[in-house]
Amino acid sequence: MTSSQPIGAFDSGVGGLSVLRALRAQLPAEDILYFADQAHVPYGPRGLDEVRGFSEAIARYLIAEGAKLIVIPCNTASAAALKPLRQLYPELPIVGMEPAVKPAAEHTESGVVGVLATPTTFEGELYASVVERFAQGVTVLQDACPGLVEEIEAGRANGPEARRILEAALQPMLAWGMDTVVLGCTHYPFAFDTIRDIVGPAVRLVDPAPAVARRVESLLAEHALAATGEAGVTSERGSTRYVTSGDPAALQQRVRELLAEDAVVEGVVWDDGEVITADERG
Ligand code: DGL
Repeated sequence: MTSSQPIGAFDSGVGGLSVLRALRAQLPAEDILYFADQAHVPYGPRGLDEVRGFSEAIARYLIAEGAKLIVIPCNTASAAALKPLRQLYPELPIVGMEPAVKPAAEHTESGVVGVLATPTTFEGELYASVVERFAQGVTVLQDACPGLVEEIEAGRANGPEARRILEAALQPMLAWGMDTVVLGCTHYPFAFDTIRDIVGPAVRLVDPAPAVARRVESLLAEHALAATGEAGVTSERGSTRYVTSGDPAALQQRVRELLAEDAVVEGVVWDDGEVITADERG
């Protein structure tokens, strides 16, 4: 039965946990299999082709582990692989992300919006197309925040180096009159306090995580794949299984810090372009 199949989710590392949080709030009964590709983090500077290769292999792994739907809580992997994955698996519901330029452009009063995302996200067609479709007449400023993902992966999301990177990105945007910041990388909501502190209370911060969780919910319903099977009534809570291609102890520590949860984390390895378990390598 579909109820025992998990939602598969993947990111380069801990960024997707900001979406996992929203998924669990929205869909408490669902089991989730969360894959962190920490052997390859950060994805941001790698370019579309390389990230697409990783994403396709991770999708094969998630499907082999029984995923009934795949969500990509990573703007960079979505930029690189959302379209190819939908072509490869036309029957599988797949939810991707793009920087939330649309709601930002709708709500800005100053007409100046700042987008924080990775270089590969800015390079992708998905980003160019949202800016073209939804940001006509709005000034869109961009910054790739070099080094910020690494700081967040190291557990220093609100440390002095993260602050330096964010000040360098945001202060020029503020000088242009920006009133809305799009968090276009799923790692960045973990630096929320520092971002808020730099931009002050009047600037709006847009995190698309809740919208992604609602999209997952509606696709599950559309495909009759929801864990409860009926009217959203359940007394059961779903479980989360964490897998990393990096150091399981490090991910366990980050999950403790970022989600206040004691997670059991499994390790997997990359072997000739495929994800395998350490046992399979023998
Ligand atoms: N969290 C990712 C994103 O949303 C990727 C960050 C990275 O690995 O560079 O873009």
